[in-house]
Amino acid sequence: MAAWAFKLAAHLLAGPLPRRWAHVQGVAARARSVSALFSDSDASTLEEAAVLHDIGYAPNLALTGFHPLDEAGYLRDSGYPKSLCALVAYHSCSYREAELRAMVNELSEWDDEKTPLRDALWWADMTTTPDGRRTNVHDRIGEIVERYGPADLMTSLNLEAKSELVAAVERTEERLWAAGLGHLAK
Ligand SMILES: [Fe+2]
Repeated sequence: MAAWAFKLAAHLLAGPLPRRWAHVQGVAARARSVSALFSDSDASTLEEAAVLHDIGYAPNLALTGFHPLDEAGYLRDSGYPKSLCALVAYHSCSYREAELRAMVNELSEWDDEKTPLRDALWWADMTTTPDGRRTNVHDRIGEIVERYGPADLMTSLNLEAKSELVAAVERTEERLWAAGLGHLAK
């Protein structure tokens, strides 16, 4: 499952950005772990989106410096489905970053689908450390704020987006408990 996406992400990230590649593999594993919540097709899309959600950081793809937009544009130009492009374009509250970067118009090419699938992608990203290990959303945001420092846009973004990020994580964890998969939410 998602073999082409793994190959593409490895090609773009493993050499230049090994820590990012470790994170992405962890997020993909998290996404795979909740596949029972979704149809086979949606579970596949979720895993693909998870492994591709940070390819916009790759030096070859970083055109605008706003990675969700760069990767969504790349996937669009490569002929991948619009739904996949939209998932990566809006992952983990990226529209807040679009506001801070004055790139809302560019991002509006896609729609934030606001579904359990989209929540699960945010959950996988926000419960995985930069090294690909499991964490919780509060520690994850705390680590980002500490890593980037008070003056950085990423710190402002994560503090402004915190309630939305936590809400998406909590909705996913409620779905996991309801499905008898509460061990993944702990
Ligand atoms: Fe990420």
